[in-house]
Amino acid sequence: RSIKSLTTSPSAHILRRGYASEAVPLRKVTVLGAAGGIGQPLSLLMKLNPLVSNLALYDIANTPGVAADISHINTRSEVVGYASDAELGKALEGADVVIIPAGVPRKPGMTRDDLFNINAGIVKGLCEAIAKHCPKALVNMISNPVNSTVPIAAEIFKKAGTYDPKRLFGVTTLDVVRAKTFYAGKAMVPVAEVNVPVVGGHAGITILPLFSQATPKANLSDEELTALTKRTQDGGTEVVEAKAGKGSATLSMAYAGAIFADACLKGLNGVPDVIECSFVQSTVTELPFFASRVRLGKNGVEEVLGLGPLSDYEKEGLEKLKPELLSSIEKGIKFATQ
Ligand code: NAD
Ligand code: LMR
Repeated sequence: RSIKSLTTSPSAHILRRGYASEAVPLRKVTVLGAAGGIGQPLSLLMKLNPLVSNLALYDIANTPGVAADISHINTRSEVVGYASDAELGKALEGADVVIIPAGVPRKPGMTRDDLFNINAGIVKGLCEAIAKHCPKALVNMISNPVNSTVPIAAEIFKKAGTYDPKRLFGVTTLDVVRAKTFYAGKAMVPVAEVNVPVVGGHAGITILPLFSQATPKANLSDEELTALTKRTQDGGTEVVEAKAGKGSATLSMAYAGAIFADACLKGLNGVPDVIECSFVQSTVTELPFFASRVRLGKNGVEEVLGLGPLSDYEKEGLEKLKPELLSSIEKGIKFATQ
């Protein structure tokens, strides 16, 4: 959305002129897991983002090829690839935003929680490095299970004495992207105009789209709303099954990750009223982490917004998701504090 508007709107040339005269701040973005299924298209989209001045691409495999390839694109940012553990510190140094799509994806029949054993360790190691080399960066956590990896990151940062809840985000934008697409198709409204908050977490029933607040308004039946909710909750599984053992969503996730990172950069740059849904430390419910709409600003989270009015169906969904979400959060905390 924002990338498109910056590159195609009539004001695009004015903005570009601004970069040359340093009106647009220098911003370093680091992608950890940059050569993966998400990492590659996400790095490409970040290379297209004019708010980025330095793009650091880190992976434990195949980084040089991806970095060389992306570096030939004639856009603002300078691209540097970092290929080994020994180079992780340099990849992170000075980063304003760190995006983490490092880790294994699901195969058919698996839940996101089945990835915990491998991905928890990967995320822990990467977060220890973030605490050491760029403790002030905004961290965009994509690696699953997000409901646990975000609490893991928080505990690692706490241990290092660098935790700032305003700077840690679970990326749930793909749930919003899906909810918008599915709603537009059912409600027969232009997809570009659709807004739907998605709250809770990022796995199965913990994903709670609030279609009662969707705009433009449409007169959908209870059956249609139930089907839309279920399709949004199962969107990831729909892709996992369609890919039949070759991984999970990568292209739509790269798009969603680029939207969210762009929102973080806009917030850092002082653009007002930047609002996206994200899984953050929260007091919106009794759970310590919860996804809801968040206002982004110069320090990361400016304000965690409330849920707004819920339908009875959504109220029921909210109560149902709490035990599962809490148990995933506690699992992450336990892993990181052991
Ligand atoms: P992938 O296997 O294609 O890519 C993962 C990359 O991570 C690989 O290139 C691998 O070398 C790299 N990697 C592994 N350990 C690393 C480490 N210690 N440091 C740096 N890089 C490391 O997987 P993918 O399809 O890109 O998915 C990545 C993760 O994103 C999975 O956990 C997946 O479940 C998750 N995901 C989340 C969402 C979401 O909405 N939040 C959506 C889709 C996928
Ligand atoms: C998604 O929602 O597509 C991701 O969380 C990947 C998955 O495993 O479903």
